[in-house]
Formats: sequence, structure tokens, C-alpha cells
Amino acid sequence: MNLKPETVKGKRVLTTKSRVEQKNDELLEKRVVALEGGGEQAIQKQLAKGKLTARQRIELLLDPGTFTETKMFVRHHCRNFGLENKKYYTDGVITGFGQVNGKLVYVYSQDFTILGGSLGEAHAKKIVDLLDQAIQNGAPVIGFNDSGGARIQEGANSLAGYGDLFLRNVRASGIIPQISCIVGPSAGGAVYSPALTDFIVMTEDTSYMFVTGPAVVKAVTGEEATFEELGGASTHSVNSGIAHLVGSDELESIELIKVLLSYLPSNNLEDPPIKEITTTNTVGLQELNTIIPEDPQEPYDMREIILQVVDRGNFLELQKKWAQNIIIGFGRLNGYPVGVVANQPSILAGALDINASIKAARFIRFCDSFNIPIITFVDVPGFLPGLDQEHNGIIKHGAKLIYAYAEATVPKLTVITRKAYGGAYIVMGSKHLACDINFAWPSAEIAVMGAEGAVQILYRRELAKTEYPEELLEKLKTKYAEEFNNPYLAAEKGYIDDVILPSETRKKLINALWPLLRKRERRFNKKHGNMPL
Ligand code: HXC
Repeated sequence: MNLKPETVKGKRVLTTKSRVEQKNDELLEKRVVALEGGGEQAIQKQLAKGKLTARQRIELLLDPGTFTETKMFVRHHCRNFGLENKKYYTDGVITGFGQVNGKLVYVYSQDFTILGGSLGEAHAKKIVDLLDQAIQNGAPVIGFNDSGGARIQEGANSLAGYGDLFLRNVRASGIIPQISCIVGPSAGGAVYSPALTDFIVMTEDTSYMFVTGPAVVKAVTGEEATFEELGGASTHSVNSGIAHLVGSDELESIELIKVLLSYLPSNNLEDPPIKEITTTNTVGLQELNTIIPEDPQEPYDMREIILQVVDRGNFLELQKKWAQNIIIGFGRLNGYPVGVVANQPSILAGALDINASIKAARFIRFCDSFNIPIITFVDVPGFLPGLDQEHNGIIKHGAKLIYAYAEATVPKLTVITRKAYGGAYIVMGSKHLACDINFAWPSAEIAVMGAEGAVQILYRRELAKTEYPEELLEKLKTKYAEEFNNPYLAAEKGYIDDVILPSETRKKLINALWPLLRKRERRFNKKHGNMPL
């Protein structure tokens, strides 16, 4: 409207707006159009699916009033298949920066109401530019993924857009934390951008990720699967381990991202954020003195130990339902963020298998990239035996874990609670892989293998000859256990820095971490190592 109300000699009259005022109005009108996304109908369709809009997601993530939007007026220039008549501001992705708990973050949020959030040339460039800014200014990137994938009408330009994005994800890796929040479809090659980021958060019932959808799977392999079975949050949290965290709804997913961010530095040149601790753990620590069962074969829950040792209420477990024989997550020790890696004796006796090795190795590498010390709790009988494990490459996957521990230069502290047998002893943060401080509980058993296996091998002939093999076996096992199933032989050699009471663990770790925060390690320059992938 080119008229404006004004008060002339006490009377309200309509006067003509100046050209500049009209231009200002034009801007405001364009903004209104941009904020409408794909229009009311599409927004209602989105909400009816139990999903939030792209803008609501950003609003919930960022501190109120901190969002600065970038490139709102970007539109595509495609003229194929009638797309020239479907031009929307933002081109289906909202980009910008703001703050989460006072810290700078970059954020993009795909808008499914605009062309299904599909990624074309302009859409991709917005995300790529955002990543470049985030790398340059050293701040985390959070991406909300809700997209039908490559914008079909834009053909190769869409594919090029994905390529550009993958390149930026890789360039950003190890420089800034990257978090993907899946809040809708993520299909086809599009899954590889989230896969290249550090953490994937999925939402129950409304998010799914797969390389090929149910129809293609059925056509090619004959297998029938629903979207959820093929790539829902339950599949990726339990079967594939793709999802690090799962929210029951989008609000919870966003809260999880905030908690995750609270443990992370903004970039690889910063230390992780220290949180002031107001409560200390004393109750419960005494209980650790009796947590190890009398019977060495009896399981217990390593999580209980972790929860007692880290600052109360400060443990964020990742990939909780996948490869449960190993636990990973972020915690704090006297306010300082740490990455926790722990065998879980209550699942597969805590043995290391392919998935556990992959899970822990990637986590250790993240911690090392972002200056987060690693605390390892060990109760491991060895690598999991079996045809399946051997045929699927436990050799190369187990090697990943060795590589990750050996390569990491952040402070590394280890506590052996019970079994530390054979190769798995070496792998799990041993002194031999340059861990800084290694503690063992009095219940620790550091040996090539357990008593039963060792005696069966060492005394095979004697056991075959005797009339009472059971009796002899028991006698030999007791002798072996007395000699080897303790931490003192390793402590004598200096492989263990100290044998400590379980109740002392928290205090000892806090004390040991303090000087290590000054740790500097020099290595030979190289382009990069050749990790066994
Ligand atoms: C262009 C797309 C689109 C796409 C969806 N739309 N995906 N437009 N390119 N990839 C449009 C739809 O035409 C529709 O437009 C609107 O978005 C909403 O989509 P609906 O189908 O109505 O929504 P819904 O029923 O919720 O189904 C969502 C969906 C489905 C399951 C994601 O849209 C779908 O199957 N899309 C195609 C998925 C796909 O195969 N993508 C390519 C993957 S391969 P209108 O105008 O009707 O509202 C890939 C390669 C990447 O991404 C390679 C990287 C290296």
C-alpha cells in the first residue's frame, strides 16, 4: 500500500509514502513471504505428521532472540519441469547463526514445505557457505535434515551440490563439531552428509535414513520392509549404530543436542567447557568397594561404576542400544569434560567384537580431535571368538581400536576393575599404547588369559593322564589365579601406576587429570596415518 496514516493539524489523514518508505515496505513484504515457507497448507501437512516446522526447530534450539538469518532471499534458477513457476525464498533451507547457552553455533534447517526440502544448486550452496563460515569462525554446525534428497528437476546440479557439501563436511571434520539432527526423510546419497558429521540425533517415528528405500529394496532383493524397519530411529539405534542419540520427539532431540554441545569445545583449538560443580559424590563411592562379584564369571553393570565416578548427573551415553558390550559417552570430572570408554561385563562378558571396536574407536578419535581427555574402564576377557567375527574382519576392526588409542594425544587415564586379558588388555587403554596414568583395582586380573583356559593349555597332558582331572584342574586353576590373577605383577613392572581402592577412584582420577591438562605431545610430521578402515 502506498498510503500511510499521518496526523496533520491534529487530524488523522492518509498521505502518500515516499519512494524510500515504499522500498522499506517491499522488504517487509518479502520477509513475510519468506517466513511463510511453502505456504499454510504445506505447513499444516507438516504439523499433521507430528513434525515441527524448519523455523520452529531453530527457535527451540537457539537462545531467544539470537538467530541471525543468512541468505533469506536466495532462490533457485532452474527452468526444468515447470520449476520456474515454483520459486521460494530460502530455496527450502533456512541458514544462519545464533547462540546455544551463550555460545556461537551455525545452524541450517531444511524446510520440507518447500519442494520437499529437496536439495538443488542454490539450496546446497547456502549450506556450503554456512559450513565455510563455521569453519572460518570456529563454531559448531547443527543441521536439521528433513528432505526428499536430490532435487530431481535440477539433475546433475543437485548431485554437484551434494558433492560440494560432502567436501565441506570432510574439511570441517576435526576442526568444528558437526551435529546432524534427522527430523524427517534422509534418503539416497543424501544420508552421507549426516554420516560424515560427528553425531547423528534421530527422532522416534518421524525420521528415517536409508540409501535405498523400501520399494527399491523389494525390487532388488525381494525383501519387504517398512520405512521404520529399513531406516527408522529404532533400526539405527539398535541395529546399525548410525544414531548416537534418539529423542522421543523433536523437542527431546533438540534438548539432547544442547546437552551434547555442553561437553564440546567450539573448535579444535579450544579446550572443552568447564562447568562449575556444586555437588560432590561421596555417597555411593564406598559401595564400589564391593561391586565386583566374588565369582569372576558373574556379570555386573559397569554403568553403575561410571555414574559414581563422574560428576553426579553428568553422563551422556551415546549409541546406548548398539554394541552394548562397550559403553561410550561424555562425562565430567570435577567439572572438566571427559570421554568415557568402558567394557560392559553384563553384555557378552564385556568381550570386544567388531561393533564394539568400531564404536569405541570413532568416539576416541572424536575426543582426540577436540581435546577431550579419555577415561577407560576395563573389564574385558578378550576378543569375541567365532566364525562370524573372523569372517567379518575382527582383525581389521579390532585394529581400529588399537590405532585410535595409540594415535590419541589427549590425556588418557585407565582403570582396570577386573579382567584385562590378552590382546584386549593391550587395546583397552594400556600403558603400552601410551596411556598416561593406569590404575587397577585390587580385583584386577591382568594376564594372558583366564585361569581355566591357561591351565587347560599348560597342563593338557597331565590332565589327560590323571584319574581325577576335575580335582587337578581346580588345584591348578587356584594356583594360576593366585599367581597371575592380580594387578601386582603388572604394577611391579610399572604397567600399572597404582593399585587403588575402588572407593578412591574418583579422587585419584581427578588428581591424575589435573597435571595432564598441560600435556603436550610431539610427533613426527606426516600427512596422515593409514588407519585400518
Ligand atoms: C523434487 C521433491 C523431492 C525431490 C519430494 N519432493 N522429494 N521434489 N525432488 N527429491 C516434493 C514432492 O514432489 C512434493 O511436491 C513435496 O516435495 C512433498 O513430497 P510428498 O511426496 O508429498 O511428501 P511425502 O508423502 O511426505 O513423501 C516424502 C518422500 C517422497 C518419501 C520423501 O517425497 C519421496 O519419495 N521423495 C523422493 C525421494 C527420493 O527418491 N529422492 C532422491 C534420492 S537420491 P508437491 O509439489 O506435490 O507438494 C538422492 C541422490 C543424492 O538424493 C546423491 C548424492 C550423492
